[in-house]
Amino acid sequence: MELPKSLSTKENTQLKEILARVKTYYQDAESGHDWLHINRVWNNALQIVKSEKANAFVVCLGVLFHDIADPKFYDGDTEIAPKLTRDILEEFEVAEEHIQQVLDIVVFSSFSASKTAEKLPDFIEFKIVQDADRLDAIGAIGIARTFNYGGYKNSPLYLPGDDSYNNSTIQHFYDKLFLLKDLMNTNAAKEIASKRHEYMLAFVKQFKAEWEGKA
Ligand code: NI
Repeated sequence: MELPKSLSTKENTQLKEILARVKTYYQDAESGHDWLHINRVWNNALQIVKSEKANAFVVCLGVLFHDIADPKFYDGDTEIAPKLTRDILEEFEVAEEHIQQVLDIVVFSSFSASKTAEKLPDFIEFKIVQDADRLDAIGAIGIARTFNYGGYKNSPLYLPGDDSYNNSTIQHFYDKLFLLKDLMNTNAAKEIASKRHEYMLAFVKQFKAEWEGKA
């Protein structure tokens, strides 16, 4: 993984060591939230950080920890991730103010938390990680992830007609993926998202045309 150029020597060393440690926690993660997802979100975040005044060290830490111990896979236990994050960051002597920000990122970056939380953090590093994570849910990667998850859940590919009881993978585009471009915080992410959005629209259009034998 490429490291941002703006880091101090100390941060550079810390980040490399933390990265190696955190990687081990993603070994058994499912493919939508595994280490490869972290790599892609990292690349998205580095792209966004270039056009924002942000602390790249906090952004990178936020990316590394944002899916650690996802409560979805720990019986809804939301305490594990922040505790693990604090323990590791303290062990590597990260400053308390940075730990606080990374914890906010870990707690609030999920789609469900962002919908239910009364007030979301509004520091730029949080917004960048949230954008970078959401970008990985759309476009060609988003399509691949969605069908992969649908396969894991044994969902039907597509159920034409009434959408209200539809658990098909194509329905998921309408329920979530097509909404994401309007939720981006930063201009850089908005720009990337709009291209990825167009790509998904074209995909679904072609999919339905093929379904009906019209393409
Ligand atoms: Ni994620």
